[in-house]
Amino acid sequence: MKTEVTMDQLVSLCKRRGFVYQSSEIYGGLSGAWDYGPLGVELKNRIRDCWWKEMTQLQDNIVGLDAAIMMHPKVWEASGHVDNFSDPMVDCRQCKNRFRADQVDLASPCPECGGKGTFTEPREFNLMFSTHLGAVKNDSSIVYLRPETAQGIFVNFKNVMQTSRVKIPFGIAQIGKAFRNEVTTKSFIFRTCEFEQLEMQFFVKPGDEDQWFSYWKESRNAYYKRLGIREDFLRYSDHGPDELAHYAKVACDIEYRFPIGWQEIEGIHSRTDFDLSRHQEYSGKDLNYLDPDTKERFVPYVVETSAGLTRTVLMVLADAYEEETLKDGEKRTVMHFHPSVAPVTAAVLPLVKKDGLDELASSIERDLREHFPTFYDKAGAIGRRYRRMDEIGTPFCITIDYQTKDDQTVTLRFRDTMEQVRVPVGELAARINEEIRAYARM
Ligand code: GAP
Repeated sequence: MKTEVTMDQLVSLCKRRGFVYQSSEIYGGLSGAWDYGPLGVELKNRIRDCWWKEMTQLQDNIVGLDAAIMMHPKVWEASGHVDNFSDPMVDCRQCKNRFRADQVDLASPCPECGGKGTFTEPREFNLMFSTHLGAVKNDSSIVYLRPETAQGIFVNFKNVMQTSRVKIPFGIAQIGKAFRNEVTTKSFIFRTCEFEQLEMQFFVKPGDEDQWFSYWKESRNAYYKRLGIREDFLRYSDHGPDELAHYAKVACDIEYRFPIGWQEIEGIHSRTDFDLSRHQEYSGKDLNYLDPDTKERFVPYVVETSAGLTRTVLMVLADAYEEETLKDGEKRTVMHFHPSVAPVTAAVLPLVKKDGLDELASSIERDLREHFPTFYDKAGAIGRRYRRMDEIGTPFCITIDYQTKDDQTVTLRFRDTMEQVRVPVGELAARINEEIRAYARM
């Protein structure tokens, strides 16, 4: 049984090992924004690439897109975000702090200053950030930073349809930044004002949406299990009628048991023809699909899968973390990352940095770079170097010792079991790739 990780332990490891830093830390930090350090950006990019492979390359009928963050302001009127994308907020008249109305008890004292009866009436607070495009600042120059990547897909539906020879059912996938002026941002990278989304809109024939909704719900949950996430830390949570977003007919979250409790990692939404119909109405452009076989014309229905990339990073970190007590009583912190997302796949370590072992190790590391992310470390006792690699989740350590000079074999050490085997240098890359494949298909 793994010990439960706390958010403080994760924040501390992320800072110590260069996964995640507070944004603008030397100026005291900026709430709701975080920076990804050398290992964090590798982890995030690898998780992103796994999703892209899963949702485009391994699919028959899903194509990719990368739309601009800033879009025509009419997009957000049509999508309903200008009118509906808001949270009811209350302010404390005494300390001026603002809270989501559903997260405080209006009859209780203010959680910040303890003031009694100090809350204002709830007011709707739109979560979109706005700015001005061009030199003139007036109402007609307002643009929004997109609060979801999905709308970039909807407004390109016609372009993709006309240029990609896709036939319904088909999907368009996109990865990108999204921005929301979140008031509660205290849970590390869980909820931030700037974050990344992994979204896919699947266009189907009206009437087929329930079947595709079930399909994507299961498919996305299976994906997380293949990513190595513990099964008993994943669950579905169906939205009740009063929880549905303004665009959704049916919705289900995939939740993970974070250190702060069960929380959404991904939403599967049945969006009907809401978005395409609204864009058709607001743009005046025909967004119907003409079925080449039946000659029927219709506005497709949409089933969306929408996950947070940065939130997935937090889930992967939380799920991987373990503080182990070894047989000899020694403690080790180990991150059990799936080898497909670990920031470093293999570390190459010369036993000592003399007698030519360091040069030999360095040349082996250079060869392996072609195959997967590697790291070369010759500083400190070998035991300490193993611990450093365990703590950043490196699944394989390769040690070059005096025997290597004699028989061209090295020690291959496995992070999770700490077992060691000897492998010929020439077979290393193939052996490690075989081990990765055996882990689980990703
Ligand atoms: N297009 C639909 C949509 O955006 P959502 O449930 O609002 O749906 C989808 O967001 C996913 O985006 C969430 O499951 C979560 O993983 C991520 N997400 C949303 N807001 C976030 C925030 N403020 N910080 C980090 N991730 C966020």
